[in-house]
Amino acid sequence: MLVPLSRSVASVRLDSMPPLQVSADEFRSLAERVSALATDFLAGLDDRLTVSATSAIDTAAFDLPLPEKGIGEAILRDLEAIAEHVRAPTGRRLPYVLGSGDPIGALGDLYASVLNQNVTAWRSAPAAVAIERSVLGWLAGAIGCSGFAGTFTSGGSLGNLMALAMARESRAPANEDGAQPGVVYASEEVHMSIPKAVALLGIGRANLRLIAVDHHMRIDVPALEAMITRDREAGLPGIALVGSAGTIMTGAIDPLADLADIARRHDLWFHVDGAYGAAAALAAPEKFIGMSEADSVSLDAHKWLYQPLDCSVLLYRDADAARRTFAYSAEYVKTTSDDPIEGFAFFNQTIELSRRFRALKLWLSIRYHGLAAFRAAIAENLAQANSLAELIEETSSLELLAPVELSAVCFRWSDGDADTLNELNDAVLRDVNQAGRVWLSNASVRGTAGLRACITNHRTTEQDVRRVVDEVLSAASRVTARTL
Ligand SMILES: Cc1ncc(COP(=O)(O)O)c(C=O)c1O
Repeated sequence: MLVPLSRSVASVRLDSMPPLQVSADEFRSLAERVSALATDFLAGLDDRLTVSATSAIDTAAFDLPLPEKGIGEAILRDLEAIAEHVRAPTGRRLPYVLGSGDPIGALGDLYASVLNQNVTAWRSAPAAVAIERSVLGWLAGAIGCSGFAGTFTSGGSLGNLMALAMARESRAPANEDGAQPGVVYASEEVHMSIPKAVALLGIGRANLRLIAVDHHMRIDVPALEAMITRDREAGLPGIALVGSAGTIMTGAIDPLADLADIARRHDLWFHVDGAYGAAAALAAPEKFIGMSEADSVSLDAHKWLYQPLDCSVLLYRDADAARRTFAYSAEYVKTTSDDPIEGFAFFNQTIELSRRFRALKLWLSIRYHGLAAFRAAIAENLAQANSLAELIEETSSLELLAPVELSAVCFRWSDGDADTLNELNDAVLRDVNQAGRVWLSNASVRGTAGLRACITNHRTTEQDVRRVVDEVLSAASRVTARTL
């Protein structure tokens, strides 16, 4: 329900105002109404489908002519219409690796936009830089990497790119004279952002060794060592070893302590891609032994710290390595202070220059709820994934496709002719998502197709977990009835 405007916004606009100026009264009135819309959206969330029945015809309605004249408060109708065509962040939104968006974090985003700080350097955004550095220290400590510095980024893809840029600059410097030969190692289950980064950095995807995984879907350590030895014998220098702390498909955690040891022995930069899983070290630190020995760790707070997109961090052990990679200052950004706080510039340690105040939402969210609440929410998601796996194992027509290490559960409908099961599971997934009550993504485990639920969602309940199984069984009976 829209809150009625106490008076028309037109009546508070003064003729003498600059063209885009919005008066305090006008802002208050609109902000109250946007806040009412957001509150209604959240209050009604559980009644919504998580996958709306939106078609391209529906979204064509947003392809509007560019308005020469503003429509004023009628924009609020746009916001209502948009909310009808989203993938609603219910407790049953479980595809890929998606957080659900803590509303306290959303308020932080609003306030950050109003303050509109450019978080380039302390001198341009003193409070924002202090808060960002403080939150980075909190996170590093919370996941067992005390003393790491870092930077907020848009997502794990950028964090992984920056980590590999640092690795390249430290092992095969390229900033001045261009890329030199070098090899990067990761498992074949590594996220697609790593091959992308290797390509963008001029290392070349032919120099990315994708090592086979063991039956737990973790990198096969002897195969990795053999590959490194072969490359060394062929005279190919190593740049980096990437360990996954939560692979995108099954949530497997590579043996990080072993990888740290191998990286040290072979002088490789050790990057941990923890975009999905690293935050779970809050609740289950025993799974992440060895992560503290990394040179860099990426962690998406918009995944398992439940923040609204976008909110991610790259943590690194050696801030000088970041500066050697990213510092290139022109006269117009010259810092004028040698003070370690007042002279601090993020642009010397990241790719970005203009940066939004991403840390505010996480700062507010953690201070509002307390870290213990995050730890409890993650522990609950881990337990929910286990109970989903148990439900699947108890159901004779369903089958788990991989061990459940974190919160990703890969499974399939297994009641049918082996030759048609892949196709059948694709159809079941389409049907589940078309019904829209739960949203799952596709699993592909060693060439076997199935469905995948990934629970990094603070709204998910035990009931939602049971709903996943019910929805899949209903979809499977519809699909098999159609194919008979
Ligand atoms: C393991 C892993 N690494 C990297 C990424 C990329 O993160 P982003 O989507 O935030 O760029 C993801 C995304 O799901 C991921 O699961």
